[in-house]
Amino acid sequence: MTVQSTKLEYLPSDLKKELLPKHVAVIMDGNGRWAIGRGLPRIMGHKQGVNILKDLLRCCQDWGIKALTVYAFSTENWGRPKEEVEFLMTLFGGVLRQELGEMLQENVKISFVGNLQALPNALQSEISRSMEETKHNRGIYFNVATNYGGREEILQACRAIAKKVDQGIIQPSEIDQAIFEHHLYTAPNCDPDLIIRTSGEMRLSNFLLWQLAYSEIYFTETLWPDFDRSEFKKALSAYQQRERRFGKV
Ligand code: FPP
Repeated sequence: MTVQSTKLEYLPSDLKKELLPKHVAVIMDGNGRWAIGRGLPRIMGHKQGVNILKDLLRCCQDWGIKALTVYAFSTENWGRPKEEVEFLMTLFGGVLRQELGEMLQENVKISFVGNLQALPNALQSEISRSMEETKHNRGIYFNVATNYGGREEILQACRAIAKKVDQGIIQPSEIDQAIFEHHLYTAPNCDPDLIIRTSGEMRLSNFLLWQLAYSEIYFTETLWPDFDRSEFKKALSAYQQRERRFGKV
């Protein structure tokens, strides 16, 4: 199964280029329900989810969006059935192997954020290779949150800063937002302007808790494997209607 007839190759004329988000984050939810609804095993939803993700990445490039961050696997997802976890780990590695050449060609800089040391060794190798080989690319920043948890990210930043304080490298009075952000997994990315969650769930599920402080939130009932370019266009239209005040009047 692939993504059918994506006709919206260029930025649709009713979207304003100057009002596009620079950075979009996505909680790709609903893969399991999409598959079950078709009488298929849940893993087929993840497979179709990859096709949709590939097209969204291309779409971001086509339309001039600079960064895309997706939630591929949370620290809580280890609690899924063993076979599903194994399938996902194998899928991530397989997609990386298969897509690395194209990502290089299309100037994609891929980064993985999360506690990567806990991932299977084979996947860690694929991750290191893909990050190393694409590190000079600047076409689009593609961040994949894998074994990621927002609270854990904040805690590990605190630990790293506390260690530096202990060693006399940083004074407690010097700790500000810039220093804190520098110790997050996502440094040096800018914060997402827009966060999208599919499948009708309306929560952040421990995703980018620090970084989403001022992001616009878009929830849609559409399941992730159905989130094609026309759905993305709807999310961007909604974003362009918002007035971002950042706490000011
Ligand atoms: C949530 O749907 C989806 C996931 C936990 C996995 C998402 C992963 C992909 C789309 C693959 C990404 C691949 C790469 C290489 C980045 P769900 O299973 O929770 O769906 P449900 O809520 O309907 O059960």
